[in-house]
Amino acid sequence: MTPPSEEKRIRSDLNPVRVVLLKIDGGVVTAREDETILHVARQNGIKIPTLCHLDGLSERGSCRICIVEITGVPRLLPACVTLVRQDMEVFTNSERVLKYRKKILELLFTERNHVCSVCVSNGHCELQALALELGMTHVGYDYIYPKHSVDASHERFSIDHNRCVLCQRCVRVCDEIEGAHTWDVMGRGISSRVITDLDEPWGSSETCTGCGKCVQVCPTGALSEKGKSVAEMTKRRQFLPYLQIMRREELR
Ligand code: FES
Repeated sequence: MTPPSEEKRIRSDLNPVRVVLLKIDGGVVTAREDETILHVARQNGIKIPTLCHLDGLSERGSCRICIVEITGVPRLLPACVTLVRQDMEVFTNSERVLKYRKKILELLFTERNHVCSVCVSNGHCELQALALELGMTHVGYDYIYPKHSVDASHERFSIDHNRCVLCQRCVRVCDEIEGAHTWDVMGRGISSRVITDLDEPWGSSETCTGCGKCVQVCPTGALSEKGKSVAEMTKRRQFLPYLQIMRREELR
């Protein structure tokens, strides 16, 4: 039997990945054709704001904060799930991009209960940081304020669905890094909600290992550790890319 590393080498010899040339914000860059615009932009020191993206997890493309404009493409596309192409011309900060990025952020703020002044995450929230970064001073839409529940049935952690932005980082880290797949999403559109197992209370989950990785990756104060403010929680996410590589090797 051919060892996996040899098989990988043979496959890449048969299908070599091409290098392409493209322009991002006017500058010419090179990239592998299997890389995303976000990855290439970051490698070249160009910042594109993100929310659902987290290094070390698969891409979901759910928040749309990373939208960019591409010449010849009528729609704005999310940089984290759009692959580069030869001769592509990308604008990460055009007037149109900034306008719609801000609108998307406003919609995120109105969809649930994100009132920073009374939030436990105030000062330690990625959603709030994005609002500051994008210069969002108010929202131009009606607040929906759906009445979502708080599940504090787990002995160490709790989830406040009112603060959730449905980025699904918790779902992905639990599945891809921990391998438990306790979290998933139930419902559609505005009624979507992250759930544990088959919508059981978190505390009675039979699959939850209690590792707390979901809490570590949450960008807002939706998932938290009991007895600690968000500021007191240490979020150690830098190991995720390595953990994912190790897990892939393990599964081979
Ligand atoms: Fe790209 Fe969320 S970061 S869609």
